[in-house]
Amino acid sequence: MRLLWIRGGARLVPVDAVVTGPRTTLPDGWLSPVEADELQRLATDKTVLELGAWKGRSTVVLSEVATYVVSVDRHQGIPEREGVESLPDYLANVRGLDNVAIVIAQFDRIVPLFDSFFNLCFIDGSHDEQSVYQDAMMAMEHTDGYGTVAFHDWDMESVRKGGLRAMSKSPNRVVDSLAVFEGNL
Ligand SMILES: C[S@@+](CC[C@H](N)C(=O)[O-])C[C@H]1O[C@@H](n2cnc3c(N)ncnc32)[C@H](O)[C@@H]1O
Repeated sequence: MRLLWIRGGARLVPVDAVVTGPRTTLPDGWLSPVEADELQRLATDKTVLELGAWKGRSTVVLSEVATYVVSVDRHQGIPEREGVESLPDYLANVRGLDNVAIVIAQFDRIVPLFDSFFNLCFIDGSHDEQSVYQDAMMAMEHTDGYGTVAFHDWDMESVRKGGLRAMSKSPNRVVDSLAVFEGNL
């Protein structure tokens, strides 16, 4: 069991498993314990669209409290962990969760096909400004007007630029590197 949370420069370095509060272990990933707690506060009894799951760390956190989670990821590797295939670990971590829909797809191919509004959209895909902007614009089309959009990695300038351009307002709150925009989207 590993209890370390390591920061490498400006980026969080994933650890194999982290123990937080009463939780046992979580999948490898970047979500810090306080971000996980905030995400759970936002997701409790809510429907959630997750853009970017990797090995399912945030998916597991969300599914513990949400009514339902639609989890979208293309699972084709990421620059941060070149050559690491996330799909086998992701499936092992989330396939037993009966309130999670596993969607293996490119965001811009599948999200426009959704015919529903989510209470919470969690955006944690590619971190360049244009991707964050496009993902947020897409997510807002499917977030109910009183809902919440949350961005991970808000400590990265490119994420802040893309997110602020899409949201046209400052976040209601930032918890570690999780930025939260609530209501009046
Ligand atoms: C930083 S990781 C997500 C981390 C995860 N939320 C966690 O808690 O560990 C980003 C993920 O977004 C996915 N991704 C990035 N851009 C995407 C796109 N346009 N369509 C689908 N998946 C995408 C990548 O495949 C990657 O798994």
